[in-house]
Amino acid sequence: MKMWSGRFRQALDPQFERWQRSFDFDRRLLSYELAASGTHARALKNAGVLSADELISILEGLQQIGEMASAAKGFVDDEAEDVHHFVEKQLAARIGEAGYKLHSGRSRNEQIATDLRLYVRAAIDELRKELAEVCGAFTDRADQAGSTAIPAYTHLQHAEPVLVAHWLLAYVEMFLRDADRLADCRKRLNVCPLGSGAVAGATLPLDRSFMAEELDFAGATLNSIDATSDRDFILEFVNALSLLSLHLSRWAEEMIIFSSQEFGFVQLPEVYSTGSSAMPQKKNPDLLELVRGKTGRVIGSATALMVTLKGLPLAYNKDLQETQESLFDATDTALGLLPLVAGWMKAVEFDHPRMNEAAQSGFLNAWAAATYLVNRGVPSRLAHEQIGKAVKLCLEKNCKLQDLTLDELHALNPAFDESFHDCLKPAAVLAIHDVIGGTAPARVRQGIGVARKKIESLREEVHAHA
Ligand code: ARG
Repeated sequence: MKMWSGRFRQALDPQFERWQRSFDFDRRLLSYELAASGTHARALKNAGVLSADELISILEGLQQIGEMASAAKGFVDDEAEDVHHFVEKQLAARIGEAGYKLHSGRSRNEQIATDLRLYVRAAIDELRKELAEVCGAFTDRADQAGSTAIPAYTHLQHAEPVLVAHWLLAYVEMFLRDADRLADCRKRLNVCPLGSGAVAGATLPLDRSFMAEELDFAGATLNSIDATSDRDFILEFVNALSLLSLHLSRWAEEMIIFSSQEFGFVQLPEVYSTGSSAMPQKKNPDLLELVRGKTGRVIGSATALMVTLKGLPLAYNKDLQETQESLFDATDTALGLLPLVAGWMKAVEFDHPRMNEAAQSGFLNAWAAATYLVNRGVPSRLAHEQIGKAVKLCLEKNCKLQDLTLDELHALNPAFDESFHDCLKPAAVLAIHDVIGGTAPARVRQGIGVARKKIESLREEVHAHA
């Protein structure tokens, strides 16, 4: 039996009938649909609409549907319009007429709004758990990198040396922000639309606070029109996923560059690479390239969602059904990426000597050299100019700053003395960046400790929701 056929004189066009269904994709909301339906049934009983026996048989029926679905038996239905219709049909088949009482006082509009909130909430918990593991993998590698340095780039040109650990912790910052952003989104979505009806609120005296509490929501939504048409939480969520995958994409791009023969900082792990069917020597960074590529897909979903919602009048419109596949695809894509990224980070080998060597080349110590003069009272603009001239001289002579003689340096500024060469040593260059968030080794060690604490509390938070 359809959920709405009474007023129709004609059957639907078969092609349209198939095409408008959502069961093929909203079936994945089944567990949330069952949970929300159980809660609605209890509220109906409390409101005196269902007898105790009817409630028991409805709850038993719902449980059987869940068991049947998890055993994946009979989970095909060529007639179900959507997951809501599927549950109603299944229930009626199992418990008879009482099954049709479940829909009393409710609408699919509030149901889908509730199911989707439950789905996104669970996805956020899952993603934050995976993010904690990714952050853990990056932090472990940062810890293991010890005193190894790498050039930091601006404009992709040599800028200053930094600890490898400092560079890796930059990504941990991004991922922790992503975890925070998801938590923030979770907080805002955690209200329950049940009892909002089709648009104006339930037609029976249902205790909405009770329903919200049963489903672990912080409270009931406060406006039935908004509650049945709001998909902001999906947009916020998928936009947060866009940022997360954008971070992953920047990471992937950097690793691809660093694994090229020209850089050679990173040895691609064989277990996450493939070869070429034509060129026998090739080992390609497939995982990284797919991470970069899938980012386009997640951003595509976020864009599709915004375009779908733009211009919809209040309240429910069937267009909203179109938000589901973008949401599911973005979630699957992001969830698929994270464990692989963590695995890649555990497996990758860094070429420490090559990184250290690069960190000592290309005048990465020029600012440290200028700082040496500033510490001797030379105005920074003049110090900058004089070290610039020293670099020019080195380029002419094809040497490094530390190779210049004291005479050559004195010609630029009499403030130079023997200690200049010490200030150009790699450890000294790192050490002067001794500020919060700087690359001085002690600061970076602190940074590792802070990251570990944050990862631990992220793990605890996720655990508490489980
Ligand atoms: N499958 C629908 C969706 O995803 C469920 C809500 C249907 N509501 C309606 N008034 N036709 O949006």
